[in-house]
Amino acid sequence: MDGISYILDVQSDIVKKHVDEGKFIPTTDFSKISQVDTLSICVPTPLRKTKDPDISYIVNAVNEIKKYFHKDLLIVLESTTYPGTTEELIQKEIEDMGYKVGEDFYLCFSPERVDPGNKKYNTKNTPKVIGGVTKRCLELAYLLYSNAIDTVIPVSSTKVAEMVKLLENTFRAVNIGLVNELAMMCDRMGIDIWEVVEAASTKPFGFMPFYPGPGIGGHCIPLDPQYLSWKARTYDFYNKFIDLASDINGNMPRYVVTKISEVLNRYKKCINDSFILILGMAYKKDVDDLRESPSLEIYKLLKEQGANLEYNDPYVKEFVDEDGNTVKSVELDYDDLQNYDCVVLCTDHSCYDYLKIAEKASIIIDTRNAFKGIVNKNIYKLGAPVYSENTSIYDYIKEVAATKERIDK
Ligand SMILES: NC(=O)c1ccc[n+]([C@@H]2O[C@H](COP(=O)([O-])OP(=O)(O)OC[C@H]3O[C@@H](n4cnc5c(N)ncnc54)[C@H](O)[C@@H]3O)[C@@H](O)[C@H]2O)c1
Repeated sequence: MDGISYILDVQSDIVKKHVDEGKFIPTTDFSKISQVDTLSICVPTPLRKTKDPDISYIVNAVNEIKKYFHKDLLIVLESTTYPGTTEELIQKEIEDMGYKVGEDFYLCFSPERVDPGNKKYNTKNTPKVIGGVTKRCLELAYLLYSNAIDTVIPVSSTKVAEMVKLLENTFRAVNIGLVNELAMMCDRMGIDIWEVVEAASTKPFGFMPFYPGPGIGGHCIPLDPQYLSWKARTYDFYNKFIDLASDINGNMPRYVVTKISEVLNRYKKCINDSFILILGMAYKKDVDDLRESPSLEIYKLLKEQGANLEYNDPYVKEFVDEDGNTVKSVELDYDDLQNYDCVVLCTDHSCYDYLKIAEKASIIIDTRNAFKGIVNKNIYKLGAPVYSENTSIYDYIKEVAATKERIDK
């Protein structure tokens, strides 16, 4: 109502401008539905503890829509969900009230493709996929979204549009799972996975870099593939890639903790009673989103093993741990870093001064290659031999190019 945004990369001044101009009217009053022509549903689609889809938010939203439904309403579901949801949970419910889709009301699915923190791609310049239950449904939604989005991609059905989103996020989860598995293997083989990925990325075709890390987080990548595999099981189909990726990615926090234990062991220390600082609680750099963040799991595992823990995150001022305690972010005093037995870099926020951290901290566990290019024997990277020079492939390329230039002269 005051135009204050609670989302880090949505600026309050823009929200306020639209609120002041009466173009954006946030409300929890569902009776407003009776006054609007179109509705986009963007409610959360989490998982239950059993990893089954929790579609209660969609069901609740549809129940409210039914109360204030009127003819000619265009409804677009945007929440990520399993193929068939739009037809099963919305079309059926409204047709049961005696209205016909494509004639009395219009229904589409169009997945959200937001990448929080991405400076280049926003809602306007990210192509938007839309599938309608009927041709008329698609036409109307196409016209609506074309007003605001540069490129709208129509597809033949709501199921295709639902599946598009799940393919995109399953693709990411599986590829991150693959590179995480290779990171653990490289660690054992004494090869630096980061250098391998960097060099492989110089191939201009047929390769796309994915990077290892402490695990996957956020509301999408860890959850969405589970929606697909849940639905697939109702067809007696078992998605082995999804299960495998989920297993590998889900175990990365344990791998990080094992790495911490191994490194401390080299210094004749153990996790129990060590003073450990976690840098970065958010699930990825420069965002304040804690959902499914692997840092939370690392925090929990280290605590279980008796560590004296603190954390710093400029974007996450506090969180509630497994035992219900509120844990507050400590100030990052670079001069104080030497007092920790170990500093664990979980989220590579851009605002951290990595050179200073490398100078001051006694032992660093780097789960993101955030200290790339900084040569310091006390930096231990995930997916790399215990001591790595951190030399970039591009440094070698530059050296070779310089040699060639000398020879040419
Ligand atoms: N956040 C992202 O970056 C992102 C990206 C792509 C897709 N998605 C998908 O978009 C959907 C929403 O994700 P989110 O991160 O915005 O979730 P969120 O948890 O921030 O919730 C979105 C909004 O839904 C509202 N809400 C909850 N129940 C409601 C109800 N019954 N009626 C009306 N409003 C209700 C909440 O108040 C909140 O404002 C999910 O399906 C997610 O998978 C999210």
